[in-house]
Amino acid sequence: MENTHHVTAVIPAAGLGTRLLPATKAIPKELLPIVDTPAIQLIVEEIVASGIRDVVFVTARGKESIIDYFDAYPQLESTLSERDQDSFLAKITEPVEMARYIAVRQGRPLGLGHAIYMSREVVGDNDLAVLLPDDLIDAQVPCLAQMMEARRATGADLVVALMEVAPEEVSKYGIVAGTLTSERTFSIESMVEKPSADRAPSRYAIIGRYLFSSDLFKYLAQTQKGAGGEIQLTDAMDAMLRDGRRAVGYLFEGTRFDTGNVFGYLEANLHYALKREELKDPLRTMLGEFLAR
Ligand code: UTP
Repeated sequence: MENTHHVTAVIPAAGLGTRLLPATKAIPKELLPIVDTPAIQLIVEEIVASGIRDVVFVTARGKESIIDYFDAYPQLESTLSERDQDSFLAKITEPVEMARYIAVRQGRPLGLGHAIYMSREVVGDNDLAVLLPDDLIDAQVPCLAQMMEARRATGADLVVALMEVAPEEVSKYGIVAGTLTSERTFSIESMVEKPSADRAPSRYAIIGRYLFSSDLFKYLAQTQKGAGGEIQLTDAMDAMLRDGRRAVGYLFEGTRFDTGNVFGYLEANLHYALKREELKDPLRTMLGEFLAR
């Protein structure tokens, strides 16, 4: 496969976010703040820092505020500028200028594979980087950039992000089978969705970052409903593997947070708050006091 194609980033955000109810009854989970910044902005920042400028959101009914967030807000901008609140002004305009955005809708929540398929017309012949907005990765070099480099180095058709998990955790993830070919590169032979600990072929779990050529759409078009009656991305990737496409897993450097559940969401908030110069000392003191109670 040629690796010189333009890359479009696709962010599937059409899910219901039931694990974060009741908050997600009226607020898309992607806009829930990590400290003071919507989680999805951190995803767009990773995309932009990886050299990609075109971002496609796959949204659904009730999630229009995601698009509003990345749109200009002239009235608020002029009010902030009249009040000389330039740092807030910069904060609200940066996400608008940072990338080019297109939104597509997924009318019915027929699964992650189906959500990605909704982007086929805007992605066209470009390669795609798929980022699941629940997975936040704090890394020196953005996870997506690490994967793009792995793809250049290996010439693989598809690249997924991998993370080593504890044996009792394998049943929550897609797990890969294959061989480690270098310190961080894993040659994938097959994948199993949510295996039990004793049936897992490895402890390398697939995390929400993927690189594909537009070939993926051909496979998604042929993918039938799978687990949960949904069109599963894993099934399409499996078909690619069976067709002899080369898949590489990349054991990224960085820390990953799953903000799609309450505990992971809290953990991410604490992690990012403790990284903030103005918050870290008072927060440490407060936590110390809490724990001493
Ligand atoms: P999840 O399995 O996390 O589902 O989807 P969810 O709806 O977001 O959250 P819960 O499980 O109800 O709490 C993984 C990713 O796939 C997207 C979601 O938005 C999320 O980013 N997705 C899933 C869609 O866009 N459409 C779908 O039909 C299913």
